[in-house]
Amino acid sequence: MHTRLQKIVVPFEYPVVFTSDLFNIANNALVDVVRRQEPNRLHRTFFVIDDGVYSAWPNLKSDIAAYLEAHSETFAPSAEPHVVIGGEPAKSDPTEVTRLQELLFHNRLDRQSFVVVIGGGAVLDMAGYAASTIHRGLRMIRVPTTVLAQNDSGVGVKNGINAFDTKNFLGTFAPPFAVLNDFSFLATLEHRDLMAGTAEAIKVALIRDGVFFDWLEQNVDRLCKFEDETASKMVRKGAELHLEHIATSGDPFEFGMARPLDFGHWSAHKLESMTGYALRHGEAVAIGMALDAYYSVEAGLLSPEDCERIAALLEGLGLALWDDALDRIGPDGRLEVLKGLDEFREHLGGELTVTLLQGIGQGLEVHTMDEGKIVRCVERLRARRRG
Ligand SMILES: NC(=O)c1ccc[n+]([C@@H]2O[C@H](COP(=O)([O-])OP(=O)(O)OC[C@H]3O[C@@H](n4cnc5c(N)ncnc54)[C@H](O)[C@@H]3O)[C@@H](O)[C@H]2O)c1
Ligand SMILES: [Zn+2]
Repeated sequence: MHTRLQKIVVPFEYPVVFTSDLFNIANNALVDVVRRQEPNRLHRTFFVIDDGVYSAWPNLKSDIAAYLEAHSETFAPSAEPHVVIGGEPAKSDPTEVTRLQELLFHNRLDRQSFVVVIGGGAVLDMAGYAASTIHRGLRMIRVPTTVLAQNDSGVGVKNGINAFDTKNFLGTFAPPFAVLNDFSFLATLEHRDLMAGTAEAIKVALIRDGVFFDWLEQNVDRLCKFEDETASKMVRKGAELHLEHIATSGDPFEFGMARPLDFGHWSAHKLESMTGYALRHGEAVAIGMALDAYYSVEAGLLSPEDCERIAALLEGLGLALWDDALDRIGPDGRLEVLKGLDEFREHLGGELTVTLLQGIGQGLEVHTMDEGKIVRCVERLRARRRG
């Protein structure tokens, strides 16, 4: 027998740019990232736009056309941008992926071409998934347009769609070519989306950075009003912590069992699907974090005072810590949300690893969660809602 151990190390590097007014002709952010590797070539681009963004920014197509025209030394003429349905339906309807793949095929995009996706986390996940399957991966530039996507999903390395009634069942790891975070896009978001996205910044603070949590707490009123300076600082710090985690955790493609960035997510994912996606991802994460913070107290890891600070910050932003789906009973007589734990375990490959808190800013991995304790935490959340 002979075994040769093949080892491949592939470095990934992508700029994450914080800017505003991206398609103003004087803004060079897009030109710079496209020219980063081959400054002297014409580059082919294909734009995908979230329909929620497009209705809020009706001049977007003409602004993009004017931008490409003004920078014709960089961009080859490109097809009309493709508008896709926004929000979770983008990920839940498989024909969205097929239609986009077909368009990328008909437009003869090659491995050096760019797909520039402008949208919320759902559209970025869906279009990123489609783009990563064309010729085994086109160059994707993400332009996240929600708070959640700018501080979390858009800066990471994952794509995916929902299938077989399971969130993110199909997906790929594919680092983007670049990320352009344009703060001005956030101006047209509904208030609930601003706050839902802020929940992910709270999440990353809770598992990694207590000082950032203190800052969020001190600025809760300004964040609630989404005042420019404070809000952009929150988005940027949230993104930096997510990026730092991906770069330094030693497991960017999640081969291991640990998923610290999924703090609060085992129940959040289940609640999203149980509510037919009526709950936004960030809203479900707020509930999931409250549940796991209460559980951390139950497990003797977190002080009740710290748990109260977490709950108060979420509530201070207007995020509910309760949804009626939480105490729905399934056919087996158990709380239906507990199936989220089974699904999380299955997704990880058998052994459960859940991040709890042993302090604010300090995640801790555990491998079991006691159903009885979870039920008690659900009861506490219900009681809290009643005041
Ligand atoms: N890939 C990852 O690592 C990762 C991480 C976290 C979350 N996610 C995914 O992200 C998705 C949630 O993303 P989201 O919170 O960004 O919401 P979203 O993409 O569902 O968008 C919410 C709504 O806002 C609209 N919209 C987007 N930008 C807008 C703008 N600037 N102005 C007006 N309307 C706008 C959309 O059309 C949609 O109707 C979930 O599917 C979640 O699973 C992925
Ligand atoms: Zn999330």
